[in-house]
Amino acid sequence: MKIDGNSTRTIWVADDGRTVDVIDQTKLPFAFEILKLNDVEEAAAAIERMVVRGAPLIGATAAFGVALAMADDSSSENLAASCDRLIGTRPTAVNLRWAISEMMSCLERLPEAERKDAAYRRAAEICDEDVEINASIGRNGLGLIQQIAARKPPGEPVNILTHCNAGWLAAVDWGTATSPIYMAHDQGTPVHVWVDETRPRNQGASLTAYELGHEGVPHTVIPDNTGGHLMQHGQVDLVITGTDRTTATGDVCNKIGTYLKALAARDNDVPFYVALPSPTIDFTLSNGVEEIPIEQRSGDEVSKMTGVSEDGTVRTVDIVSRGSPVANYAFDVTPARLVTGLITEAGICEASRDGIAELFPDRAAPAGRRK
Ligand code: MRU
Repeated sequence: MKIDGNSTRTIWVADDGRTVDVIDQTKLPFAFEILKLNDVEEAAAAIERMVVRGAPLIGATAAFGVALAMADDSSSENLAASCDRLIGTRPTAVNLRWAISEMMSCLERLPEAERKDAAYRRAAEICDEDVEINASIGRNGLGLIQQIAARKPPGEPVNILTHCNAGWLAAVDWGTATSPIYMAHDQGTPVHVWVDETRPRNQGASLTAYELGHEGVPHTVIPDNTGGHLMQHGQVDLVITGTDRTTATGDVCNKIGTYLKALAARDNDVPFYVALPSPTIDFTLSNGVEEIPIEQRSGDEVSKMTGVSEDGTVRTVDIVSRGSPVANYAFDVTPARLVTGLITEAGICEASRDGIAELFPDRAAPAGRRK
């Protein structure tokens, strides 16, 4: 997608052929800065600090983290230790575990001398596959937007609400939830996006609004608690969110607050879709509420807010009464029964074990092993 008219991905190998460049998302939307990752520790820290974030990009960064590790020391000991370090960075997005296991199964059977080149190759493939998958999600979700547009008076936009940033900044390109939106916009279907600000880290206000703005997609940033009101007044035609981990039964874990949007959508008969690449499906889990680990992050993310003042200085200020305890659950789980459908690279399916198994028969658990 584009920044100031220039096509950009979120992660790439630098011109030296060894180090890995990423967009520093902690600086957006106030500054566009590239951060260089020199070794596996820097890749791990970038995931922990949310320099890079979003389930697919966390996976892609971890894959390149393994490549950086192999460039330094391609021994089996370092491979195992580096994968352990990376896997411990963030607990919820399952794409991290998926990417590490892809890298492991590619590298562990190779002689040490071949591991470095193979690691960079596989990491680059994971990135290219992510772009292809997300483009397919866009093509598959486009029809939903076009169907709604066809029922509206000509020229009236389809109003889509999204939560957090499941855009191209959260992936390698296109994004998941935003991919059908970008495709609809490119094809001339009028769309307007309600962007949840997404407290506490404001990924909607800082990142989704930033990328929609650079693509020229009409949008409005709203406080997180506005969606229900808009839905009651017929101002939301469709909700599309991303996900960090979806169970084999269709329970969807995503940024905290997604569940409340799904409840409001159900109460107001607004379709609630979740866009996801198949590496986000955790085929080992059946009950999202009980089984998905929910990351808890620093209370500082709740008690402080960062913004830019009129003189251009970026400042962080306290917004909570000193001494009041805060809680920072980063994700919640929306049960499958509240999800209208899942938009994947293989098509759209019901959020259910059967729906997912129909699209991904090779990966779904055999009937006898179902919980
Ligand atoms: O904490 P974050 O910013 O990594 O959370 C990101 C989300 O919740 C996204 O919606 C999810 O990763 C899907 S990204 C295509």
